[in-house]
Amino acid sequence: MTTQFACAGIELELFRYPTQQASNLQAWDAADEHLIKHLVDVQQSAIPTAILNDSFGALSCALVSIEPQWPITLETDAKTSLLGCQYNLQHNQLTPASLHIINSREILPKHTQLVLMKLPKNLHYFAQQLARLSAVLPAGTQVLIGAKAKSINAALLSIIEKNLGTASASLTWKKTRVITCVSDGKPRELANPVSWKVDELGLTITNLANVFAANKLDIGARIMLDNMPKGDFKQVIDLGCGNGILGLHAKQCYPNASIHFVDDSDMAIASAQHNWQHNKLDSDDDLPQGVFYWDDCLTHLPAHISPDLVLCNPPFHQGEAITDHIAWQMFVDAYKRLKTGGILHVVGNRHLAYHVKIKRIFNNCTTIASNGKFVILQAKK
Ligand SMILES: C[S@@+](CC[C@H](N)C(=O)[O-])C[C@H]1O[C@@H](n2cnc3c(N)ncnc32)[C@H](O)[C@@H]1O
Repeated sequence: MTTQFACAGIELELFRYPTQQASNLQAWDAADEHLIKHLVDVQQSAIPTAILNDSFGALSCALVSIEPQWPITLETDAKTSLLGCQYNLQHNQLTPASLHIINSREILPKHTQLVLMKLPKNLHYFAQQLARLSAVLPAGTQVLIGAKAKSINAALLSIIEKNLGTASASLTWKKTRVITCVSDGKPRELANPVSWKVDELGLTITNLANVFAANKLDIGARIMLDNMPKGDFKQVIDLGCGNGILGLHAKQCYPNASIHFVDDSDMAIASAQHNWQHNKLDSDDDLPQGVFYWDDCLTHLPAHISPDLVLCNPPFHQGEAITDHIAWQMFVDAYKRLKTGGILHVVGNRHLAYHVKIKRIFNNCTTIASNGKFVILQAKK
């Protein structure tokens, strides 16, 4: 894995976040380079620019290295992207004069004159991002979208035209293209969040656009719900909570427990919090309440939180990349935080062989349930 970024005369050293991770993945891709090369080729001046979906800050760092005064608004749903961008700016001794950071639900500033965007994996979220842009961008504003050439087709261009304005794609360079969209100045309505019921638990789940398991219960989560551990748990963490389904059911199983929800996605945390309130799990003020953290695994969890149960349905990809390094980090963080005697309760695809990792960290691992595809594993600290 290289950390040396060199493109269009800009040289940086860029890391993923966290910088120490069990993966060989790089902090940027050729679509980042293509966007930057395009800006340099057209001698783009430093006008107020919004950057969306900047994986680990390659785009932000490049703009600041071209011109420290470049006014930038960085919008991100992933905490790891935000932390990665901050790390890489500092590591490259870049001090932006005007960097404004917002999450994926905040309103973009009205004075935005240019948008740089990486195509996210989730096209439903992409459509929603475009519709949000349509509410603030004056007619004629350029939105440059970097993507792999193989992801660009008529259906994608029609999503862009439906939600923002006309679009055309550049020639291919390093297997990527830059789509130029020109906003038409007509604000679009945002699609409503998707809701569905888990009848047997009496829960209604509502998901914002970038949340895992968009319109139905994940099959891994289903087998977890059917196999919750027995015990009088007092402090539970739903690690990688998505819409919060595991933590919500934990509150039904262990009414005296405080439940801590953690996710890298801001929209996931907002959805979990909404679902907690909407399902009235905080109705009894005397009982501990739900607590919500937008974070990378358990990195910034307050020091006094030491759970007796961690529930975890780990991700096996980050953006486009298939990887098990986040699962690894989640298991290590869970081990560090659990009380002695506390339990990590994990669901995973059988072929991911999480038991090998868990056994290395905890020195024990028991299979609690399995079906053809999934296993539930448990380890005790
Ligand atoms: C497989 S989903 C599970 C969601 C939910 N718990 C369920 O069972 O339906 C994994 C979740 O982990 C989150 N995630 C990914 N990377 C993370 C990280 N570094 N820290 C915390 N959460 C992360 C994803 O946003 C996603 O919501």
